[in-house]
Amino acid sequence: MIHSHPRISKAVIPAAGLGTRFLPATKATPKEMLPVVDKPAIQYVVEEAVAAGLDDVLMVTGRNKRPLEDHFDRNYELESALEKKGDADRLAKVQESSDLATMHYVRQGDPKGLGHAVLCAAPHVGDEPFAVLLGDDLIDPRDPLLRRMIEVQEQRGGSVVALMEVAPEQIHLYGSAAVEATEDSDVVRVSGLVEKPDPADAPSNYAIIGRYVLDPAVFGILRRTEPGRGGEIQLTDALQQLAADERIGGPVHGVVFKGRRYDTGDRGDYLRAIVRLACEREDLGPDFRSWLRRYVTEEMQER
Ligand code: G1P
Repeated sequence: MIHSHPRISKAVIPAAGLGTRFLPATKATPKEMLPVVDKPAIQYVVEEAVAAGLDDVLMVTGRNKRPLEDHFDRNYELESALEKKGDADRLAKVQESSDLATMHYVRQGDPKGLGHAVLCAAPHVGDEPFAVLLGDDLIDPRDPLLRRMIEVQEQRGGSVVALMEVAPEQIHLYGSAAVEATEDSDVVRVSGLVEKPDPADAPSNYAIIGRYVLDPAVFGILRRTEPGRGGEIQLTDALQQLAADERIGGPVHGVVFKGRRYDTGDRGDYLRAIVRLACEREDLGPDFRSWLRRYVTEEMQER
């Protein structure tokens, strides 16, 4: 079947947040550059976009975010030093991030919320569907969520959000979706969305996790969206309007994700993400796991 709409090729990554939860580490370093094992968190996200076929990446940044641009650029001084030493392994690591994708940057200026950050991408994205990836959520590459979302968008049109069932006491941390089943077991129709609801008002325990495939009609809505929760222009509020009237930009669907997701947004979750990913690494995992086992056993005895 030939699709009349263009293939999705652009990814937008909002990265203008101040990272206040990680102070003082983030005083002079963007939170996106904090390492998860030995790679900055943001590199996992760009790799995920590329693995889903999106090789045009726009980062929405702000002041103090220069290290992000440097990370995805060449570093000739370091490269020639490693070349001289004949250290091919490390040279490959340095070059990996600059060869990944075609990177673009736009500054958000005033940090007026996620919806506003996405709106800053409008001139670059133009009139085609695009993906949004939030840096605080890492999705395990073995569970390719974004590829499935793109497939669902190509089949059904409109916009697609990633949903994950969370405990009722957690739903206030997320956007929550009212859903109806479809004939695909992993796809739901989204009929409404609420940003960070009180548990009593949550339409369901389906939480939006930070992956979206959006119809460009969202830009027009965002331009008119008033500040919502926290005084910020919320992407969830714009999506709610799309869901309420599919004449604007087609339907909104959700892909229900049951795979491995690592949250790096707060300190506890960030530490857990590092431990889990370190355990699974072929190079570091075996030693780290046996140390961890001993450490946990000793800890249990002491308490
Ligand atoms: C954002 C969105 C929220 C979503 C969450 C996923 O919130 O506004 O709807 O559930 O990302 O991580 P944030 O966590 O940036 O406050």
